[in-house]
Amino acid sequence: MSIPALELNDGNSIPQLGYGVFKVPPAETERAVSEALEIGYRHIDTAAIYGNEEGVGAAIAASGIARDDLFITTKLWNDRHHGEEPRAAIGESLEKLGLEKVDLYLVHWPTPAKDDYVHAFAKLVELREAGLTRSIGVSNFLVPHLERTVKETGVVPAVNQIELHPAYQQRDVVAWADEHGIRIEAWGPLGQGKYDLFGTPAVAEAAAAHGVTPRRPYCAGTSRRASSCSRSRCAPSGCARTSTCSASSSRTPRSRRSTRSTRWTAPDVSVRILTM
Ligand SMILES: NC(=O)c1ccc[n+]([C@@H]2O[C@H](COP(=O)([O-])OP(=O)(O)OC[C@H]3O[C@@H](n4cnc5c(N)ncnc54)[C@H](OP(=O)(O)O)[C@@H]3O)[C@@H](O)[C@H]2O)c1
Repeated sequence: MSIPALELNDGNSIPQLGYGVFKVPPAETERAVSEALEIGYRHIDTAAIYGNEEGVGAAIAASGIARDDLFITTKLWNDRHHGEEPRAAIGESLEKLGLEKVDLYLVHWPTPAKDDYVHAFAKLVELREAGLTRSIGVSNFLVPHLERTVKETGVVPAVNQIELHPAYQQRDVVAWADEHGIRIEAWGPLGQGKYDLFGTPAVAEAAAAHGVTPRRPYCAGTSRRASSCSRSRCAPSGCARTSTCSASSSRTPRSRRSTRSTRWTAPDVSVRILTM
């Protein structure tokens, strides 16, 4: 299964479909990631706060897959923004992952009340220069956080990973990111099971129009609109500005089904229906 990749504003590229391990118990993470790698995922999304970086590292080590063929993301948690904590934190994550560098390191949340997210991102710039991460970005940043970060650091994040699905489209954040060359990565693209997204009339109509299960147009359409989701992807040509997504499932069959969407290009009809 070949997953299209997109170029980031720093010249690196990111696979459009990723496997996320939020809420995957540490004891199950090595198995879940090993199975995800086996069926073709190469982009794994974890975070220090998920407590399962060791499991991701063990699966990577056991996979025999060349390091350059993997794209590993982890994230700086909220209580490590200040002082030299970002360097200490990435050091701990790299040790748990068994890696010398990650492909993407994100400030997990802006936590504006603490007013240290600009400092944290400025430290990520140093970590990239030190070769501890290939690309740097943010997560859950809203437009004011993005504006201030770029203005005060002079550096544009490569990625902003945000909650994004048809029931939560964050159009202002997506538009600002598009205008400033930031790739949007969707988390919770399936609505975290909270919304019956596959059951929405629009998705059912798109599925009926193509004689496929609702998941197909949903995944393909979501990628075109969402600019990055936990399962989706469509033909790269049709969605230049589309970013990536990372989805998660503790059940391999579901992960296997989601990967099939990469072959599905959502003719405009589906996209038109899904951009509710
Ligand atoms: N940056 C952040 O703040 C942030 C926040 C949340 C998530 N994330 C990242 O985004 C990833 C994905 O988000 P998420 O896990 O929260 O939500 P999600 O991917 O939208 O939804 C995951 C849920 O969907 C179910 N599911 C998986 N595949 C399915 C399928 N083919 N059909 C129907 N249901 C399916 C899973 O159930 P089963 O497990 O039972 O299969 C699971 O409950 C996370 O793993 C994490 O890496 C980042």
